[in-house]
This record gives sequence, C-alpha cells and structure tokens, in this order.
Amino acid sequence: MKTVGSLKAVALAAALVFVLGVSAAQAADMMMEKKSLYERLGGEPAVTAVIDDFVNRAAGDPAVNFTRVGSGGKTWDATPENVAMLKKHLTQFVCSVTGGPQAYEGKDIGATHAGMKITDAEFNAIAGDLIATLDKFNVPEAEKNELLAIVGTTRGSIVEAPAEAAY
Ligand code: HEM
Repeated sequence: MKTVGSLKAVALAAALVFVLGVSAAQAADMMMEKKSLYERLGGEPAVTAVIDDFVNRAAGDPAVNFTRVGSGGKTWDATPENVAMLKKHLTQFVCSVTGGPQAYEGKDIGATHAGMKITDAEFNAIAGDLIATLDKFNVPEAEKNELLAIVGTTRGSIVEAPAEAAY
C-alpha cells in the first residue's frame, strides 16, 4: 500500500469492486499483504500461552498417553524439566511453522517420536486437545483451521503404529 498513492489506491479498490464484483473487504485483502498466521494468532506471547495450556491438557489426557507407558514403545518421564523443555521446543516449532522469526532448536519431528508407537487414534486425541485449547483462547475459526492443517501435516512423521492398532 505504501508504494501506491492513496488516490490510485482508491481507484484500484473501486475497479476491483465494480469490474470484478468483489466485496470491499475482498478488495482490501487483495491489495494488502495478508498478515502471517503467527501475527494473526498474536505472536510469541499468544503462542506460548496456547502451548502451555495445550501441553498440560495433552499430558493429562489418557487417550494421548504422553508417557507411553503400556504402549509397547519407548517411554517418557514427565519431569518438570522435561515438560518445560517440551513446551519451549513446541512453542519454537509452532512459531517457526506459522511465519514467526524463531528458530526451532528441537530434534527432527520424525526422530523425536520414532519408537513411541503413536497410533492414529492418539494423534486424533491430541488434535482434539489442541482444538479445546484454541477454543478456550477464542482463536477464530480461520486461524484455528490453518493451524490444525499445519499440525495435520506432521501426522505421517509421528504415527507409526499399525493401522489396526488405532481402533
Ligand atoms: C499422540 C501424539 C503425540 C505424542 C504421544 C507425543 C509425545 C511426545 C513426547 C513424549 C515428547 C518428548 C520427547 C523427548 O523429549 O525426548 C515429544 C516431543 C515433541 N513433540 Fe510430540 N507427541 C505427539 C504429537 C506431536 C505433534 C502433533 C507435534 C507437532 C505439532 C509434536 C511436536 C513435538 C515437538 C516439537 C517435541 C520436542 C522435541 C524436542 O524437544 O527435541 N508432537 N512429543
């Protein structure tokens, strides 16, 4: 917008509305670069608060089984230090994949979860916990769906248990 004179901008917006028949809001979207998902979520403070609530929720959800005890895969000790490190890395991860400037300092997602025997059902359960957290924070539908779509792309790297074990 800064490079376009304001009269030219008004003329362009009017042309988009009248010639293409788009709404004024759509014309504004077409002329301005849309903010990143990271910015629309509220930046690092908002992502940190969301991850804090989400990890606490998922860690207490038996359908996720975070410690992996009884899963037949490698187990994890939910010490305060381990939980704090997980929250730090998960926050960096979500910030970086949504367009934030943070670098992800954790391990590769596939390598981290390898051997945990995570099932599709457990992945679905953790997605449900994320939805509950995003609803608690009143994250709008569009941003919620964008984040869930990004998280969904990790399923293939995380789920490794045979399909029949998931149901
Ligand atoms: C049922 C599903 C899941 C389970 C049971 C699970 C479990 C775990 C556990 C136990 C750890 C700690 C590993 C360690 O510190 O050695 C971990 C780390 C992590 N997980 Fe998951 N996870 C699940 C889904 C996800 C999803 C969907 C994502 C991504 C959106 C994710 C991202 C991460 C990240 C970034 C770390 C930190 C890695 C690091 O510190 O190096 N996890 N997960």
